[in-house]
Amino acid sequence: LSPASSHPQMEEASLLRGSNCRAKGAAPGFKVAILGAAGGIGQPLALLMKMNPLVSVLHLYDVVNTPGVTADISHMNTGAVVRGFLGQPQLENALTGMDLVIIPAGVPRKPGMTRDDLFNINAGIVRTLCEGIAKCCPKAIVNVISNPVNSTVPIAAEVFKKAGTYDPKRLLGVTTLDVVRANTFVGEVLGLDPREVNVPVIGGHAGVTILPLLSQVNPACSFTPEEVNHLTSRIQNGGTEVVEAKAGAGSATLSMAYAAAKFADACLRGLRGDAGIVECSYVASQVTELPFFASKVRLGRSGVEEILPLGPLNEFERTGLEKAKKELSASIQKGVSFINK
Ligand code: NAI
Repeated sequence: LSPASSHPQMEEASLLRGSNCRAKGAAPGFKVAILGAAGGIGQPLALLMKMNPLVSVLHLYDVVNTPGVTADISHMNTGAVVRGFLGQPQLENALTGMDLVIIPAGVPRKPGMTRDDLFNINAGIVRTLCEGIAKCCPKAIVNVISNPVNSTVPIAAEVFKKAGTYDPKRLLGVTTLDVVRANTFVGEVLGLDPREVNVPVIGGHAGVTILPLLSQVNPACSFTPEEVNHLTSRIQNGGTEVVEAKAGAGSATLSMAYAAAKFADACLRGLRGDAGIVECSYVASQVTELPFFASKVRLGRSGVEEILPLGPLNEFERTGLEKAKKELSASIQKGVSFINK
């Protein structure tokens, strides 16, 4: 099956000249696929990845609406060549040859729902997409956005294990939005430019499993107990704040696309061999007794090259960590059982 090309006019134009403008125009860089590219996160993420100079080829896959999104994005005069793929029969073509696959496919929350309420639908979607990845681009770095991330990353790992392609360094759950929110909210309290603030957020990506380490904020600062309670609660419930404000129209999409693009860019810079790329991510980990945990990781040519220690936690954070681990453990188990049941 050929991809739903968005370039008939471009191909026609290059034929007029007897040249292959796509080959000439293609910049050296990485090949990136977005699965769920026509969704609330997928569309702005596609826009941002089309603007990333490290991307030479951008594949947009969804079960609906990719021809329109692809035609639209392809008119941007940036380096990446964009191709659209529609529906399951085109999944393999969408994935073949990719260096990085980003997965924002699946249903989002509505008011009153937890991320775990999405499990039944999204678990199956992530399984199918990961089976495709195992078959067509087993060496790709995979960024999982679909919720519940605490369970969908273990699901992806089990699918890859079954296929014999599992490399824990290449599977990363995207928790960047928690860090983005933490930096913004802490910046507001401290009266600092949020770009200057860096808050490590560890644990996972749901409720109490989101654990900001306010004792380790860079630049060094201190908070009153009231500020710690307020900030921890706001960071943990940032997603719900957006879900309620959108009142049934979905969850965070624009800030999420920004966060996902930031994280994908860090993965690509790591693949390129840049030094000192450190981001928080939910990955296979030995930093606690749990098999998966979010913490600072160093990214490199093979993906996650080092998991950094949690550093000293204060008593508030140690209590939070125990709560987080309890919930995380159940979510991980739920994901693993979904594949092995
Ligand atoms: P959306 O409903 O707007 O878009 C999801 C897209 O996935 C749709 O275009 C849909 O057609 C597509 N899709 C459904 N089944 C598919 C399949 N089998 N293959 C490929 N595409 C498929 O949802 P939105 O707002 O973009 O959210 C997507 C996911 O991201 C949700 O699970 C949401 O909970 C999660 N999310 C994760 C965050 C994080 O921090 N990791 C933050 C915000 C949302």
